[in-house]
Amino acid sequence: MNFKKEYDKLTAAAPEEIRSAEDQDTLEEIKVKYLGRKGLLSLLMRNLGSLEAEERPLWGGRLNALKKNLTEVFEERIRELSEETENSDTTDYTLPPGDISLPGRNPVLSVIEEVSEIFTQMGFGTAYGPEIETDYTNFTALNFTEDHPARDMHDTFYLRDSDALLRTHTSPVQVRIMQNYPPPYKFIAPGKCYRRDTIDASHLPVFHQVEGLMVDKHINFSHLKGILAEFAGRFFNGKVRTRFRPSFFPFTEPSAEMDIACTICEGKGCPSCGGKGWIEILGAGMVDPEVFRHCGVDSTLWQGFAFGMGAERMAMIKYGINDLRLFFQNDLRLLEQF
Ligand code: DAH
Repeated sequence: MNFKKEYDKLTAAAPEEIRSAEDQDTLEEIKVKYLGRKGLLSLLMRNLGSLEAEERPLWGGRLNALKKNLTEVFEERIRELSEETENSDTTDYTLPPGDISLPGRNPVLSVIEEVSEIFTQMGFGTAYGPEIETDYTNFTALNFTEDHPARDMHDTFYLRDSDALLRTHTSPVQVRIMQNYPPPYKFIAPGKCYRRDTIDASHLPVFHQVEGLMVDKHINFSHLKGILAEFAGRFFNGKVRTRFRPSFFPFTEPSAEMDIACTICEGKGCPSCGGKGWIEILGAGMVDPEVFRHCGVDSTLWQGFAFGMGAERMAMIKYGINDLRLFFQNDLRLLEQF
């Protein structure tokens, strides 16, 4: 390169270009072009070596002066531009805000609120528990055996070097409430749960459940059936048919799953219910005396039932959504419908 010619070009063009920049972005681009690490000034600095040895100190000094000068011109232009924008801003920041329109709510949140509303009307309170639980409250107190497969590393997120874990269900809230308060109990417990699942249309590592517990003297399986069938009727708006099937959970005995007649074919069997005519919506059962024992509740005096349902699952059934991932993509086209 012709060092001196480049230097002259730079001294002539740069200040003018900076002063005529119309906005901050253009200014920033010009700054990179001249003063950036790979800019024209650095290029000249690196080429000082191409000059005669005795000329180098003189030109080195000139380059430093040019750099200082250009930096000053820059700062001045930045000041000018920001003053211009300040003066052109006629917004009155003391005015109250206008309508803030939100695109609607996440259907999972709507479901949790609706479920809560229905149980509140039936006299249930609401309880919350921590998302970080212990092996004891999440499993042992709920009568999971030591070798139960759900404890496996593949299903549960364990916190390193401790027996803490991310709760895999909301059932430990039952344990915490029973350990800390005397019976009777009648509450639901909504919240987030975590499992080591690979994401697909029907699995997410984070999801929501609504737990429920009702314990009193003389509570029996017919209370469970009555309350849960009433809930299903209100949640699915009308005369939905329900059925209970025997099932197994470590913390309830006997255990059941409740199905509703498919909301699309009303029980006849269609592709949406896999031809079965029924859709499972929750797990439930009579609290196992072992769980009462772990929580310090006298099972000869108190009985009760518990239940748990997946909020995403309820939303999928109620609104005909077929992919769990849709709940967490924040796509306005979905959210605007709720
Ligand atoms: N905890 C169970 C789960 O995560 C759901 C459940 C089933 C909760 C039965 C209950 C119950 O309270 O009684 O799959």
